[in-house]
Amino acid sequence: MKRIARIPDFATYRRDLSGQTVGFVPTMGALHAGHAALLRQSVAENDVTVLSIYVNPTQFNNPNDLARYPDMVEDDAALAAGLGVDALFLPTYDDIYPDNFKYLVDETSFSHELCGEHRPGHFTGVLTVVMKLLNIVKPDRAYFGEKDFQQLTLIRGMVDAFFLDTEIVAGATVREADGLALSSRNLNLTECERRIAPQFNEVLREELADEAAVQALEQRGFKVDYIKTIDGRRFGAATLGAVRLIDNVAVKK
Ligand code: PAF
Repeated sequence: MKRIARIPDFATYRRDLSGQTVGFVPTMGALHAGHAALLRQSVAENDVTVLSIYVNPTQFNNPNDLARYPDMVEDDAALAAGLGVDALFLPTYDDIYPDNFKYLVDETSFSHELCGEHRPGHFTGVLTVVMKLLNIVKPDRAYFGEKDFQQLTLIRGMVDAFFLDTEIVAGATVREADGLALSSRNLNLTECERRIAPQFNEVLREELADEAAVQALEQRGFKVDYIKTIDGRRFGAATLGAVRLIDNVAVKK
């Protein structure tokens, strides 16, 4: 697996791939089985798979969340190489933001709901970095997990709005046996919080009104940002200790 840090080096690598299909899995590292599933799918569907690891500071509205974000690049690289990933792109802030985040990609509607309402600026950071990464990697297909369903929806919208030539492929949420959606942030749960955490998904699945689900979670020790059902999907975000969990499930309309 090739490791590339500088954008001009990536451009040279990318030019040499002409005629081959390129799949891309953008991540912030601390890879788990959900990322591995996206990488496997990309390896199966494309000639070449590129993984990026970049902890994007512009999408963190909470500096403590950024400071606590797990960093385990060597483990991630070993996992990716074992899955048949061809290139690992590891840019720095100066590579990605030569403009120091003066030019932004902004969505003015759905990005202000749900997580956007509770994390001001979050989706502007996500959309801006994903636009930059797609322009650098120029993939035929890019893979995103359904766990971040709002992010997936906004990225699809951006790709359509700006006529980007990349197919956005969704991967199903991967869960622990007890239902907890896999997330890099789960590493920060204490043992006790880890035992309580699966109740988040359990309550989301229960046939309760959104407001009743909020109360049920608060009784179990979660601090709820929102539970909201939109178009047959119930979205939720809640904090347990210092860890913010998000999840979504399909519900009967
Ligand atoms: O889902 C993530 O890990 C990040 O939001 C992404 C898409 C890699 C952008 O930084």
